[in-house]
Amino acid sequence: MNDAEITHALLAWYDANRRDLPWRKTRDPYRIWISEVMLQQTQVRTVIDYYERFLRDFPDVRVLAEADFDRVLKSWEGLGYYRRARHLHDAAKRIVQEHDGQIPSDTDELKKLPGFGFYTASSVASIAFGRKTVPVDGNIVRVVSRLFHVRTDGKSVPERRRIQRVAERLLPEDTEEVPHFVQSLMELGALVCLPDRPDCDSCPITVVCKARVCSDQSRYPIRRKRDKLLVVHREIALVREGGKILMVKRAGNGLLASMWEFPEISSVRVQSKRKLFEATHTFTHLKWALDVYECTIGDGKGEWFTPDEVEALALPAVFRRIWNRWMSE
Ligand code: ADE
Repeated sequence: MNDAEITHALLAWYDANRRDLPWRKTRDPYRIWISEVMLQQTQVRTVIDYYERFLRDFPDVRVLAEADFDRVLKSWEGLGYYRRARHLHDAAKRIVQEHDGQIPSDTDELKKLPGFGFYTASSVASIAFGRKTVPVDGNIVRVVSRLFHVRTDGKSVPERRRIQRVAERLLPEDTEEVPHFVQSLMELGALVCLPDRPDCDSCPITVVCKARVCSDQSRYPIRRKRDKLLVVHREIALVREGGKILMVKRAGNGLLASMWEFPEISSVRVQSKRKLFEATHTFTHLKWALDVYECTIGDGKGEWFTPDEVEALALPAVFRRIWNRWMSE
């Protein structure tokens, strides 16, 4: 499956399996906006009734803008996180005053409005307007980090951006399909790619899911330990084909700049793997905990070296130890 085939499989799955939710019957940006704000800290089940009631009380952005805030708050009562209601009301007023009552379609324009952060701006732009952006919520962090072995906890905006960049590679060409595509990822996370017991047999993209292939779904997204010493877990692939060994060169700056090491499992297409051993190495401020596998792969970026050449490369100490141990086994 290439990226386009993954996208197609997600869209087909969504078409057949999506829940029939009230905000999925519309492309009205006002309605999408209200639903996305409500859904941020509240479960779908709870949101449905509030959504219907709120839209009866405030059927469009002008009615909301002109309403007394106490009435808005009353309609919101029980949903919690009341700052959301304040922001909705303030943003509605701004939309009427500055945008003639039309909700902007552009992510950057949306972000200028009260309450529109990284998630909300992107969700309205993509779901209501088909803009090519992926709003990253917890479900999408889980799906994408497992699918591509992205080692992230997905908690901060920079970490969510990482997920977003990866997810955006899968966006469909046709902007008409963007709303369904975005919601297919959310829906997969809500119904199939569950935190504790993912139902991988029902997943339309299970064959390309790296976590599924490696049976390490429970390790994605990662849970960061709050140690003083940062422990970085890495899975290392020892790959030998036709007498040559696959190696990658580290970046030209930062830790162990420009040294050579064996690739990470997440950077190669693993066909089979067998765990050999574990290794650790402690630096001043962080510790690597390495799981070392012997792998066969479909493909992977890097350079191939004979054993003699590997002997001559600059390897970090822990990788030299891994090499020696592998060769002696
Ligand atoms: N959670 C956030 N946005 C959602 C959506 N559009 N449908 C279902 N769940 C969601």
